[in-house]
Amino acid sequence: MRRPLIAGNWKMNGTKSSAEALLSGVVSGATSVSKAEIAVCVPFPLLCLGEQLLAGSNVQLGAQNVCTESGGAYTGEVSAAMLVDFGCRYVICGHSERREYYGETDEIIAKKVSASIAAGMTPILCVGETLQQREDGLAEQVIGSQIKGVLSRIGIDAFDRLEIAYEPVWAIGTGKTASPEQAQDAHVFIRSQVADESAAIAEKIRILYGGSMKAANARELLSQADIDGGLIGGASLVADDFLVICQAGDLAAG
Ligand code: 13P
Repeated sequence: MRRPLIAGNWKMNGTKSSAEALLSGVVSGATSVSKAEIAVCVPFPLLCLGEQLLAGSNVQLGAQNVCTESGGAYTGEVSAAMLVDFGCRYVICGHSERREYYGETDEIIAKKVSASIAAGMTPILCVGETLQQREDGLAEQVIGSQIKGVLSRIGIDAFDRLEIAYEPVWAIGTGKTASPEQAQDAHVFIRSQVADESAAIAEKIRILYGGSMKAANARELLSQADIDGGLIGGASLVADDFLVICQAGDLAAG
């Protein structure tokens, strides 16, 4: 049994005061969540606040991006060691918004995943197809090449130290959600790609679903055999909604 992980991706949202209220709300509600693991991936400027407010709670801190390099003359970048210094346990790598708007390739993403693991964090590697790709029957080809594009560069052993998030681009922020069957099928496919290299790691690895997971659909999605958690965008910005998803994670844990 894989322990469900419910991770919030706040994206580029939040001020010091809104973050304080949201983090405090999540921390107090999370005391009733015992089986699912909970994390919030906040914007860089809010990491310090996150570290303070999450201390001693059962909510872990994460970041949304990391530099490929370990330090030095890289203006505007943030290293994995810096994230660890601020208490980050998780870091999202290769989110579709970074692939699309910032030109992140599998090569760059593989370096980010490696740098994060080397620093002691757990990367959440995101993969997923666009609507056009799905309609063209290319979803598996795209997802497969995103997985293999990282796997071939960093090796299967690194997959023992990361999580994968399946995030169909057409379901992100659109209110459209993959049906539980569509999501389950994609997760089975992703697991099979890992199993090509190691059945044992494929069995262990957590595959989260992301793309308009919300309070109303979390239970059904999380009840699928190969959906091991969620990466939550919009609904993670409302403490009560996020906590309902965390509770659904608890239920899914049995
Ligand atoms: P939404 O939950 O807002 O669709 O965002 C999903 C996502 O991109 C999480 O990383």
